[in-house]
Amino acid sequence: MPVSTLEFLPFTRPQLDAEDIQAVVDVLVSGWITSGAKVQQLEAGVAALTGSQHAVAVCSATAGMHIALHALGIGPGDEVITPSMTWVSTVNLIVLLGAKPVFVDVDRDTLMTNAERIEEKITAATRLIIPVHYAGAPLDIQPIRDLAEKHGIAVLEDAAHALGSSCRGEPVGKSGSAIFSLQAIKNVTSAEGGVICTDDAEFAASLKRLRFHGLGQDSFDRTTQGRSPQAEVVEPGFKYNLPDMNACLALGQLGRIAAINGKRQELASYYLQKLKNIKSVIPLGLPDYPHEHVWHLFVVRVNEERMGLSREQFMEALKARQIGSGIHFKAVHSQKYYREAMPDAGQGLDNTVWNSDRIVSLPLFPGMTTADVDRVVAAIEEISAEAKR
Ligand SMILES: Cc1ncc(COP(=O)(O)O)c(C=O)c1O
Repeated sequence: MPVSTLEFLPFTRPQLDAEDIQAVVDVLVSGWITSGAKVQQLEAGVAALTGSQHAVAVCSATAGMHIALHALGIGPGDEVITPSMTWVSTVNLIVLLGAKPVFVDVDRDTLMTNAERIEEKITAATRLIIPVHYAGAPLDIQPIRDLAEKHGIAVLEDAAHALGSSCRGEPVGKSGSAIFSLQAIKNVTSAEGGVICTDDAEFAASLKRLRFHGLGQDSFDRTTQGRSPQAEVVEPGFKYNLPDMNACLALGQLGRIAAINGKRQELASYYLQKLKNIKSVIPLGLPDYPHEHVWHLFVVRVNEERMGLSREQFMEALKARQIGSGIHFKAVHSQKYYREAMPDAGQGLDNTVWNSDRIVSLPLFPGMTTADVDRVVAAIEEISAEAKR
């Protein structure tokens, strides 16, 4: 296999500019480096972008999921329906809280679930549905909400990938409750971070308490630049607040999110066009309802027969050509702990299993050029031609 001398093309790279770096410096010299004015501005910015009534910033989407599950009282005896085609954090938390994860299959081409599939999994013990907006595409959420309402079950949207996306004209996060991630590879990042959007004032108040020790008052007072002396613990909480040092990074990107997501859309369209006649990889399908896709990831499935290589061999061959790639995701039920703890959990998850063995995320980030896409596509063609020789 030839070893490339080209510069390494990572599968992603954060989109930070000189102003973002200055923003961190400004926070550092300001005298207030933890949660404060920048967090408040970030929450206001996310609320304005999504149209949500309440936005609560936290130190990760995982932390947000933890306090949300805690606030909903999820625990032993409860079942929570979620796809196995997701990041492990959600399922880990369900298990850690003593509840039972119930995996629902996804569409073979969008990797998102739907109301029909979820309905089959509902039992008397079902308390919550956590559907996932996948790779920057939005779920068709309304039928899922209608189903949940019919059964008196809560819905918490995993919108880790979906900041800025919309379904049928409604931004993800505008209604209901949705958790966005600001982790390093996300379209808008604070290095680590997350924001929970909700239209439920009580839920929002509970999340605000739980993210900061269970204190009944905010940790930051704009005028005194400190905590109100009368702040008291009203319930035991966690320490999941987002520092201003992180919030300020995401704030800058939020201001240019249209350009960030627009560049991703442009590159994704170019990929789709270039891959149209290539049979060794199969891009994901697009949802068949009106939507805005923000292309957090560009995912393809390796067609082993046409490629002449397994997914792992293909990723190695990309790496040898100085091209990074990722897997989003290896299905949760197929990972060691879950294989052993829930050996039957993969049953009936045919589309999840098929994709889990084949998916690869190709490089996609706003700093890329169409020439970089050409390079990736040429590498795919070269790798499969070489494998067949
Ligand atoms: C689908 C999904 N859910 C949740 C998370 C957790 O996000 P965070 O890393 O901010 O905790 C991720 C992170 O990549 C994710 O991809």
